[in-house]
Amino acid sequence: MIDRLYLCAAGVSVLLDLRDADVRLVHWGADLGEQVPDATALEPSVPHSASDQPAPVSLIPQASRGWRGTPGVTGDRGSRDYSLRLVLQDVEADESRAVLTLSDEAAGIRVRTTLALAPSGLLLIDNELENTGEGDFRLASLDTSLPVPAHATEALDLTGRWAREKHPQRRTIDQGTWVRSGRHGRTGHDSTLVIAAGTPGFSWRSGEVWALHLGWSGDHASRVERAGDGQKVIAVGELLHPGELVLAPGETYRSPRAFAAYSGHGLDGVSERFHEWMRARPGHPSSPRPVVLNTWEAVYFNHDLEVLRQLADAAAELGVERFVLDDGWFLGRRDDSAGLGDWFVDPDVWPQGLTPLTDHVVSRGMQFGLWVEPEMINEDSDLARAHPDWISGPGDRRSLRWRHQQVLDLVNPDAWQYIYDRLDALLSEYPISYLKWDQNRDQLELGHDGRSSTHEQTLAAYRMFDALRAAHPGVEIESCSSGGARVDLGILERTDRVWASDTNDALERQTIQRWTGLVLPPELVGTHVGPGTSHTTGRTHALSFRAITALFGHFGVEWDVRALTDGERKELGAAIAFYKANRALLHSGRAVRIDRPDETDSAYGVIAQDVSEALVAYVALATSPDEAPARLRIPGLDPDRLYEVSPGLQIDRHAVAHRALPAWFDAGSAAMSGRALEVLGLAMPGLHPEQAIVLKLTAV
Ligand code: GLA
Repeated sequence: MIDRLYLCAAGVSVLLDLRDADVRLVHWGADLGEQVPDATALEPSVPHSASDQPAPVSLIPQASRGWRGTPGVTGDRGSRDYSLRLVLQDVEADESRAVLTLSDEAAGIRVRTTLALAPSGLLLIDNELENTGEGDFRLASLDTSLPVPAHATEALDLTGRWAREKHPQRRTIDQGTWVRSGRHGRTGHDSTLVIAAGTPGFSWRSGEVWALHLGWSGDHASRVERAGDGQKVIAVGELLHPGELVLAPGETYRSPRAFAAYSGHGLDGVSERFHEWMRARPGHPSSPRPVVLNTWEAVYFNHDLEVLRQLADAAAELGVERFVLDDGWFLGRRDDSAGLGDWFVDPDVWPQGLTPLTDHVVSRGMQFGLWVEPEMINEDSDLARAHPDWISGPGDRRSLRWRHQQVLDLVNPDAWQYIYDRLDALLSEYPISYLKWDQNRDQLELGHDGRSSTHEQTLAAYRMFDALRAAHPGVEIESCSSGGARVDLGILERTDRVWASDTNDALERQTIQRWTGLVLPPELVGTHVGPGTSHTTGRTHALSFRAITALFGHFGVEWDVRALTDGERKELGAAIAFYKANRALLHSGRAVRIDRPDETDSAYGVIAQDVSEALVAYVALATSPDEAPARLRIPGLDPDRLYEVSPGLQIDRHAVAHRALPAWFDAGSAAMSGRALEVLGLAMPGLHPEQAIVLKLTAV
C-alpha cells in the first residue's frame, strides 16, 4: 500500500502519512508545491514518561496510538471494545479525493473516511462507522478531528442568543479543551458556525486561519484542544445522547459532513472557499433573489384580508417581488398559544380560504410565500387532542413547553406522513412559491418509543424537506428558527436561504450578518428593512442605515409600508431599485471585510469576480475617538486599474456629522487606482453613529 497521499487545490495542500497502517494528517494548509517533504523529517522526538515511540495524532485520534486527548471515536459493547485500534485496510485516491478504510477486526468496527478537496480548496470530510462484529455496538461519538500547527495560537468561535446571533469570541489556545456544545435539538442561536484556529491576531484580511464547520441541524459539539504533548486539534461532531445510537450488526452510522477551510489571508479567505463551494452546488439559487415583503412585523397575528391586500398593493408599488404571509393563517392560530399542527386555513379569518389574497398578490406580479412550522405542535390543537402520543418526549413525561409548544414526533411514520400530506395539499392547492419554514423552540429531551431521538428527529425533518422539494421542485424554502437558530450547511442542502435573526435592528444586524457571512454567501441570508423603531431593541434608525444594512443580503422589507410618508416611500423605492440594479454583483462577487483601525466603524463590500466593479458600505457603529475617520482602504481590487468611486445611494444629510463632506463627494466622484485604494484609501465623511453610506466603484 502507498505510504502517503497528497491532495492539492486552490492553494491548499493536504498531506497524509499512511505508514504504520495508520492515517495521520501531516499537513492541511498552504500549498507545499511539487517537492512534498518526507514525513520522517517531521517526526518528533520521544520524551520521558510517554509512549516508547513518537505519537503524532491520527486522523481518528485513539489512545491505542498514543493520543491522550479526546478520542475521535467512542463507544462500546458493554464491557468490551471500548478502545479501538484502527488499522488502515484500503486506500482509494485520486488528486482531489481519498477514501480510507480502517478497521479493528478484533472489535468488529470498520470506519471509512472520505476526504475530498473541492476546486475552491474547501476540504469535505465524511465519516462512517459500521458494526462488523457480533452484538450491538453503542456508538457515543464519531468526530472529525483535524490537527492544526503549533503556530495557530488563537481560537475563534461564535455564540449568541435570540435576536443576537453570531457574535465572535476569541481566546488563546492554552492547554486543555475548549468545547462548544449545542444541546438544543436544533443548530441553536449560540451555534458557533465554525471553530477556528489562527496565527496571532488573525483578522479578516490577514493571518493564517484553519476553520471547521459541521453541516448538521441537531446536537453537536465543536472543540479546540491542546494536548499535554503540545499537539493541537480542532474537531466537530454530532453530539449523541446515551443509548441513542445502538448499531446492530451490519448497521452503519454516517456522521454529518464536516467542512474545513484553510486561509493564508485571514477570515475573508475562509469565506472565499465556503462561498465558492456553495455557489458551485447544483441546487444553489440562480435566479435573481426577489425583493421580499414579510408580513410579520407589519401585522403580526392580525390577519385581515383587506389590510393584507392594501399591504400587497403598497408593496407592489415599491417594487416588491415576493409577498410572504407569516404566522396566523391556520386553524385556531390567533396568537402563539394554539394551532400548531392544524395546517388548515382557518375559515374564521379566511372564510374564502387564502385564494382572495393569493390571487391579489399574483395579479400584482408578485410571488406568494407562506409561513409554516411543520415540526411543532401546540397541546391546544386538534392534532394534539387526537394524537397526544405524537408529542415527542421522554417516555410518559412531557418536556417543558417553550413558546407554549411541543415538538411533534416526526420519527413516528404516521405523524410524519400526516404533516407531509398537509403541506403537500397546501402547496398543491395554492400558488405558493416559497415557504418560510420555522422552528421556534429548542428540541429538548426528544424521544421516540422510549429512546432518545434527537438524531432520528433531525433526519426525519431532513426527509420532510427533501420529499416536499422533490414533489414541488419550484418552491423555495427559507430556514427560519426563531431567527437564526438553524443556520448550517446541513439545512442549506435543502433550503434556499436563512433568516439570520429575528432582529431587524440595523445596528445589531451589522454584526450578525457579517459573521453569518463568514460561511454563507449574501444571497442566502435574508436581510429586511424593518420599521423606524426596532421592535426587538427599541432603537430608532434612519431609513438609509436600515436600507444599506439590508442591501448586503437577500433584500426584503418587514414593515407596514401602507403608512409610509412620501419621503420614506421615495427613499425605500430607491433602495429597492438600487438593490435590483446591483443584485447580480452582490450575489456573485467576492466578499471583503475591511480591517479598520478601531471598532467604532466598519466597512465591507462585494467585489465582482472580474474586479470590474464593487459596492462598499462604510458604517459608523459608534462615536469615533478621532475627529475625522481613518481613510477607507479597499483591498481586493485590480491594482493596475483606475476606479471611479461615487455614492451608490444618495447620502442622507442627517447621517453626516461634519460641517462639510470631503471634497470628492462634492465633486460627485473620485478616481483612484486599485493600488492607491488599497494602500492609501479614500477620505470618508464623519458620520453620526449608526449611520452608513454605500459606495459604488466602477473600473474605467
Ligand atoms: C419566529 C420567526 C419570526 C416569525 C414568528 C412567527 O419567531 O423567527 O420571523 O415568523 O416566528 O410566529
